[in-house]
Amino acid sequence: MKKLTFLALLLFCPHGNSSPVNGEITNEIERIHSLRETLVTGVQGKVTKETFQAVCKPVGMELQKLAKSKGIMIKQASTKYRNPKNKPTSMELDIFNRMSNDANLVSLWTKSGEGHHYFRRIDVQKACLNCHGAKSNRPEFIKSKYKNDKAFGFKAGDLRAIYSVFIPN
Ligand code: HEC
Repeated sequence: MKKLTFLALLLFCPHGNSSPVNGEITNEIERIHSLRETLVTGVQGKVTKETFQAVCKPVGMELQKLAKSKGIMIKQASTKYRNPKNKPTSMELDIFNRMSNDANLVSLWTKSGEGHHYFRRIDVQKACLNCHGAKSNRPEFIKSKYKNDKAFGFKAGDLRAIYSVFIPN
């Protein structure tokens, strides 16, 4: 009987690592992650405001749409952030450093007093360097729109940021 109760708890724990809710969230993050990788292949030659509209902006919008529909919080935390909303918390900084030191660490779930957290790495590819490469090579619209931009100077293979999902209790 005890065993059964335990099993039932395990099965119905809303945010256990293998719960359907979590599976849905990790699938959605994968979908949005692939979206950016597909969109970035469209950025060739001169980057304009329009090309930006077609890469990281829709990704950010999709993440916010997902967060709103599930009542959760999603960020793309990074030590070198462009959007100040992505400034890391101490927990995010900790995971960022771990992932930065271990290229095989793709994603992980963890718990805090307030809820469950999911993290997933975002690596830099060559195509990202059009906008996240050398400081002076950044497109004009980025230089003027993001005065305190820190998201440059990356190389292919660097850890760019981490998706940080927070599911409150
Ligand atoms: C056309 C220019 C452009 C390209 C190409 C581009 N980005 Fe971005 N990226 C931006 C801009 C602009 C922002 C800030 C968006 C905002 O205001 O939220 C950004 C934000 C981000 C963020 C959110 C964290 C932060 O710094 O605020 C991540 C993560 C990111 N980009 C990763 C990538 C990756 C990975 C690639 C390549 C697959 C890539 N970007 C390619 C322009 C670009």
